Amino acid sequence: MYLITGGLGFIGFNFVKLCLKKKIKFVVLDAGTYAANDKIKFLKASSVKFYKTRIGNKGKVTKILQKYQIKAIINFAAETHVDNSISNPSIFIKTNIIEFYNLLQTSKIFFNKLSKNDKKNFRFLNISTDETFGSLRSNEKKFTEKSKFYPNNPYSASKSAGDLIARAWCKTFDLPIITTNCSNNYGRYQNIEKLIPKIITNALSNLAIPIYGDGKNTRDWIHVEDHCLAIYKIVRSGKVGQTYNIGGSNEIQNIKLAKLICKILDNIYPKKDKSSYTTQIKFVSDRKAHDHRYAINSKKIKTELNWRTKIKFNEGIKDTVQFYMNHLIKKI
Ligand SMILES: NC(=O)c1ccc[n+]([C@@H]2O[C@H](COP(=O)([O-])OP(=O)(O)OC[C@H]3O[C@@H](n4cnc5c(N)ncnc54)[C@H](O)[C@@H]3O)[C@@H](O)[C@H]2O)c1
Repeated sequence: MYLITGGLGFIGFNFVKLCLKKKIKFVVLDAGTYAANDKIKFLKASSVKFYKTRIGNKGKVTKILQKYQIKAIINFAAETHVDNSISNPSIFIKTNIIEFYNLLQTSKIFFNKLSKNDKKNFRFLNISTDETFGSLRSNEKKFTEKSKFYPNNPYSASKSAGDLIARAWCKTFDLPIITTNCSNNYGRYQNIEKLIPKIITNALSNLAIPIYGDGKNTRDWIHVEDHCLAIYKIVRSGKVGQTYNIGGSNEIQNIKLAKLICKILDNIYPKKDKSSYTTQIKFVSDRKAHDHRYAINSKKIKTELNWRTKIKFNEGIKDTVQFYMNHLIKKI
C-alpha cells in the first residue's frame, strides 16, 4: 500500500490516476490548500481512502502509516509557485522544509519498527525539481545528477534544503529515500496560476497574457503523465540513496510557447472578431531572479530504468489546451 502525500495537487492527482489504472493500492493525504484539486467526489467514487491533513502532523501521519502498513511514501506535498514564494516565503519554509522534516522523522520512526524484510522493501520518494540546480546559460550543458545546487528563489531554495535533509536522513538513519529532480510539467489538472494554464485561461477570458521580461526564458517541458510513469518506475526499481533527473528533452522559450498555444486556440476556438489570441500577449516586468534556462539530462533514468517519454509535445499540448477550454467554457 502506497501513501501518496499531496495527492490532490497537479502531479499527485495524475499519479493517483495512474495508480488506479495500474490497480495499485494506495491512500491519499493532502492538506487541501488553494492548490489542491477539488476531487474528493472522484476519490469517493473510486473508493480511495483520503485524509485531509498536513504532512507535518506527526500524530495523524503515524496513524495512517500504521493502519495501512504503508510500503512506500511518495511525497508530492509542497508549496510550488515561485511568485508566491517571493511574496510570501514563510509558508515555503514551513511546508517544504519544516513539515517535510516532520514527515521524514515520522517515517523514520515507523520504518525503524518494521521487520527486516519490510525494511528491505520500504521506499520514501522525495519528489523534487530541477529548479534546485539554478539557471543555465543558453550554451551551457544540461543538468545532470552531479550538478550542484544553485537555487535562486525561495521556492527552489526550500526544495534544495528538503533534498539535502532527505539525503542526510538516508545516509544517517538508513531511511530508504530516492529523490527525483524533474523539469517543468504540463498537462491536465494544473492550477491556473501556472504558466500554461494561465496562458490558456487568460486567452479565453479575453485578458492580457502576461509574459515575463523578454519572453526568452526557456523551460524543458515534460508531460505530467510521463513524469508519473518515471516515478512509478523509480518506486519499484530505483536505487536507494540515488537521485534521478527526469526531463522532457523539450526546451521552449516562454514567448514561443505562448504563441503556440494561441495558434492552437485560433484553430479550435477562433475569436469572434477573427483576430489572433497572440494579440493579447503582453510583456510585463521580469520576475525577480528569474532563472534563464532549465534543461535536464535524463540519461541515467533512461539507461538504468529504461524509461522514455511517450507523449509528444505537439499532441500533449493540444490535449491540455482542450482540457482547460472545456473546463472554462463549462463555467462561462
Ligand atoms: N509542477 C511542476 O512543473 C513540477 C516540476 C518538478 C517538480 N515538481 C515538484 O512536484 C511536487 C508536486 O508539485 P505540483 O505541481 O503537483 O504541486 P501543486 O502545487 O499542484 O500541489 C501541491 C499539493 O500539496 C498539497 N499540500 C501543500 N502543503 C501541504 C502540506 N503541508 N501537507 C499536505 N499537503 C500539502 C496541496 O494542497 C496540493 O494539493 C512538488 O514537490 C514540486 O516541487 C513540480
